[in-house]
Amino acid sequence: MITPEEQSWALHQAHREKLINKDDTAVLFYNATKLHEKLRAVKGFFIQTGALHTVAIKTNPTFGILKEIVKAGFGLEAASLAEVKMALKAGCEKHKIVFDSPAKTQSEINWCVNHLKGATVNANCLEELHRYPIRTGLHLGLRLNVQRSSGSADFLDVAGACSKFGEPISRFEEILKAAKTFPELNTLHIHQGSQNNNVHVLLRGIKEVVNTAESLNKKLGKRQITTIDIGGGFAVNYSGDDEWDIARLYTATEQFFQSVDGRFGVITELGRYYHAHAGFVAAQCEYVLNRAGARVLITHAGADLFLRECYVPDARPQTFHLFGSDYKYKGTNKFTGAPGLVESHVAGPLCFGGDFPAKGIQLPPAQAGDILVFNDAGANTLALWSIHCSRAAPSVILYNVESKSVKLIKKRQTHEQVMRFWQ
Ligand SMILES: Cc1ncc(COP(=O)(O)O)c(C=O)c1O
Repeated sequence: MITPEEQSWALHQAHREKLINKDDTAVLFYNATKLHEKLRAVKGFFIQTGALHTVAIKTNPTFGILKEIVKAGFGLEAASLAEVKMALKAGCEKHKIVFDSPAKTQSEINWCVNHLKGATVNANCLEELHRYPIRTGLHLGLRLNVQRSSGSADFLDVAGACSKFGEPISRFEEILKAAKTFPELNTLHIHQGSQNNNVHVLLRGIKEVVNTAESLNKKLGKRQITTIDIGGGFAVNYSGDDEWDIARLYTATEQFFQSVDGRFGVITELGRYYHAHAGFVAAQCEYVLNRAGARVLITHAGADLFLRECYVPDARPQTFHLFGSDYKYKGTNKFTGAPGLVESHVAGPLCFGGDFPAKGIQLPPAQAGDILVFNDAGANTLALWSIHCSRAAPSVILYNVESKSVKLIKKRQTHEQVMRFWQ
């Protein structure tokens, strides 16, 4: 979690450099240094067996951040053709792009065959695979589903008998037949849901996919499957305590990969791990209402930025830092027993009853004009931006604590831009 001191500095600096003004009622701040820390933590894994580390674009598609990722030598994982095009525009080389989507159309597949040679395109099911020509120039992958719950929250879980994700791993004969038909099928893919902290469960799924790859190669009589895409999904700790270390999962996975005969290359596609702790949202408290002995903070960040948090309350903890309008730190909801805290409900700016990112938390007494910081908000926040109520999407400020620089990398939307969406 970013400290209140650093947040106060970033707010002051953005204000001093006139990157924000009174109309910036909510801003996403993003710490580039933190992103690079996480990228460095992953870069050293799976080198011996061959690694392509990609970052899931959908988690934070801000262009200036994609460029940072590409500059650091990482690839990008795309969930739509528009994201593929964003990856190319951010300078990502084709062979570092992985395209996953459960709903690729025939024309999207054709576009990939014509324009994306060298990239990895993972078919979500055999039905999709059969839409490809026999020769594509792509690295073709097939997503498998071990069909066992990984323990993610329901809305992030991808297992289950009726899952839309992946070919059931039990359909070995059909998969073998497809591998014979498509000699370019060289990758097996698994992504076992998101926000999963159970290393044992994640590793068990990966092992099953590797075993399937070995069995396929044996039956095929050649090393056709050369690569295992182990997806993303590693959880982050939103409680404000220590950040969870990816080495817990990747050290065990790497040891396993080194122990198997085939020595497969590895693709990774984490999202949340890189971004969550790097970002915070600073939202102005427009009104503070006294209701039934509690304070209701009407802020400028709600279900538009924290969509999952509002629609699935209590799915994860959320820590806040409260600052005065002068960016002076007032306190947090993290230490519930601290003196001077009052019961508070954090409401967003949208006109519907569920627009509450948090209810019943303990905060220092807030006042209109204060700044409420939502911590650990770099992943799946602006990325899930909801245009409900037609509000303008906030600006994004990238800062670097080493060079002490702040930069506006995405401008707040204008009302004209919002209106254009509906035309
Ligand atoms: C196929 C795929 N890969 C990677 C990711 C990134 O997952 P996470 O952000 O949980 O690491 C997702 C997210 O849903 C995904 O669907």
